[in-house]
Amino acid sequence: MTDRLKNELLDLALEAARRAGALLSKSRPADLGVAATKTSAIDVVTEMDIASEKLIIGCLSEARPDDGFLGEEGASTEGSSGVRWVIDPIDGTVNYLYGLPAWAVSIAAEIDGETVVGVVEIPSRCETFSAASGEGARLGDRPLRSRPSPPLDQALIGTGFGYVVERKLGQAEVVRRMLPEVRDIRRGGSAAIDLCDVACGRLDGYYERGLNPWDYAAGELIAREAGARTGGRPGVPLSTELAVAASPGLFEPLQRMLDELGAWHD
Ligand code: IPD
Ligand code: CA
Repeated sequence: MTDRLKNELLDLALEAARRAGALLSKSRPADLGVAATKTSAIDVVTEMDIASEKLIIGCLSEARPDDGFLGEEGASTEGSSGVRWVIDPIDGTVNYLYGLPAWAVSIAAEIDGETVVGVVEIPSRCETFSAASGEGARLGDRPLRSRPSPPLDQALIGTGFGYVVERKLGQAEVVRRMLPEVRDIRRGGSAAIDLCDVACGRLDGYYERGLNPWDYAAGELIAREAGARTGGRPGVPLSTELAVAASPGLFEPLQRMLDELGAWHD
């Protein structure tokens, strides 16, 4: 992949995320309601998730009509260029629905299955996180480094929960057993923001079971390019089964504890 292509993809992702973030901030209806549900009655879609995905795909496909798409709200095309965009038009939809600030637009570009560019736009914080593979991560123009690693018992750990009762029961049990072993636990409501918070040192670590590629694609690259480590179970890459991200010295102890607690299964 040429630097020129990577820069083109990054500029496009930044532009599409900026436009979607502006739409979502300015045009959120005061009486915003649920348009549809997905895996359960509490896994919701709003009209603004759909409008945001449409805007992002329109913006990207106008510039690069041969690329493929995978979007949370249904976009799924192969494309013929080798580039595929992985899009979460609102990550943190429940926060957005309730008027809470922790939601983001997440856009990643993959080439032959490998994430090469990631952008997470967080309008409520006026923050744009971005990364290109091998070139580091940024918050706006500022290069990012993850926080120096504390011991596990002093670590602030983010996590999230799924929308299906069986999974939530398992996740609650993991939290019950983990909470006494760490500084504290945060549940922000947007996996993309959690991964960026590991990248910029606002969290020491983060884990979650059951994420989809659109939740983690951009944020994982940003965390990794900021110097954090990411993965799944020991020796396994980050995936839907389990996502773990942490500053380098914390990563293995956290990953080991999650494995012992069974955080990778329901
Ligand atoms: C959700 C958020 C949340 C995480 C859930 C995701 P959505 O994405 O990232 O933090 O705990 O697993 O599904 O539904 O708001 O796009
Ligand atoms: Ca999401």
